Amino acid sequence: MTLGIVILAAGQGTRMKSRLPKVLHRLGDRPLLQHVIDTARALQPTRIIVVHGHGGDQVRETIMGDDLYWAEQAEQLGTGHAVAQALPHLAGIEQVLVLYGDVPLIRTETLQGLLDVAGNGFGLLTVNLEDPTGYGRICRDSAGRVERIIEQKDATPQQLTIHEVNTGIMVLPGHRLADWLGRLGNDNAQSEYYLTDVLPMAVAEGLSVAVAQPTDPVEAEGVNDRAQLAALERAWQRRQADALMRGGLTLRDPARFDLRGTLRHGMDCEIDIDVLIEGEVELGEGVRIGPHCVLRDCRIDDGVEVQAHCVIEQARIGSGSRVGPFSRLRPGAELAGGNHVGNFVEIKNATIGEGSKVNHLSYVGDAELGCGVNVGAGTITCNYDGANKHRTLIGDRAFIGSNTALVAPVTVGKGATIGAGSVISKDAPEERLTLTRARQTTIEGWKRPEKKS
Ligand code: UD1
Ligand code: MG
Repeated sequence: MTLGIVILAAGQGTRMKSRLPKVLHRLGDRPLLQHVIDTARALQPTRIIVVHGHGGDQVRETIMGDDLYWAEQAEQLGTGHAVAQALPHLAGIEQVLVLYGDVPLIRTETLQGLLDVAGNGFGLLTVNLEDPTGYGRICRDSAGRVERIIEQKDATPQQLTIHEVNTGIMVLPGHRLADWLGRLGNDNAQSEYYLTDVLPMAVAEGLSVAVAQPTDPVEAEGVNDRAQLAALERAWQRRQADALMRGGLTLRDPARFDLRGTLRHGMDCEIDIDVLIEGEVELGEGVRIGPHCVLRDCRIDDGVEVQAHCVIEQARIGSGSRVGPFSRLRPGAELAGGNHVGNFVEIKNATIGEGSKVNHLSYVGDAELGCGVNVGAGTITCNYDGANKHRTLIGDRAFIGSNTALVAPVTVGKGATIGAGSVISKDAPEERLTLTRARQTTIEGWKRPEKKS
């Protein structure tokens, strides 16, 4: 059966109080509408049509996809009117699935279930809510068959007591849709063309109305304001956290974990509280991430321990390394393995050989360190002369004394030792001690000044 999916996204989103169209507000790593489109794509439809309103240019620029069809609804005259704008793209489509651009957590499995029960007829996704206020109520006849949907504003006190509500998500038979939509009126409390009014038309034609419900009611929740956006963000994060835990990842507290992107991991990794993961992050086996870390687009190999409060971006940490607390690895930081990077150390665009250590208060940028190098506390690679960046090369087993400035371009040979407090602006030879330091003197007979009485 050919499937067309119409995503309604023309609403203004007034309650967001934002210059950004509502459907472009983000949930996790993606705009709300992108979530719905990705879910729609997973159903492998013949066509996806997005109905957008004013500000549609911004939506179209943000949401990519050559497979998408766009229909403009210049004035928001109701959900029925909105679907009617998509009709030119629905010729020959047998099943039409209507989704909302601001209902991001709907799952592919739920929609597939609805499509399966709907078949050639009508399909409705409903939920039973403790507090159904604001939603359209599902009215059934004495035999329990769905007859119609009554909007809150049009309902009688009797109808308002119904707890089963319309999620808005429905399946419609494509060959009848144009006719039904053409017959819609707007004689109701909101003077809108209600999509829900096609339901009695289907019933009158003797079509079956199948009902499905999502496993979790949050799937049908929409975003109208920023508080609802935050609530759905939590639900989305929890869903991702649950999936990761099922996959064998330990999260010390899934309520304090945020993933905005994708996380792949080996066995027995553990993530402590308040960790934010962005982009594409990959952990090997037995990796431990301490509390309050930010990991963005990085690869962390087997057995690495990242201690508290580290920020790691576009970097790679080789196996068995220990990083942190309070370390910052910037783009291009490549640690070969068995490394120690300690507190208040920043590494950028630098390769660090096996077993090398940068333990305290250092900046290593645009550098290549060999294996077994020891960088003392407070060492700085002076990589920038105000106009250009230059590289620092440090050979295997070199020992850099504390508080050394390495003025690039400069090379420190293998096994070289640099005396503490040096400013190294010329190459330092292999296996020798190099230092730049005024000789220490002691003034004989010197006395401290005393306070005059
Ligand atoms: C609609 C349903 C109601 C259901 C509720 C679920 C109708 C008549 N009512 O109510 O039964 O319980 O959704 O949330 O369908 N939209 C457009 N163009 C329009 C109007 C709406 O694109 O002219 C889009 C909105 O951006 C939104 C969705 O359609 O994504 C639903 O619109 P909204 O006004 O929130 O729904 P209700 O009218 O409250
Ligand atoms: Mg409305």
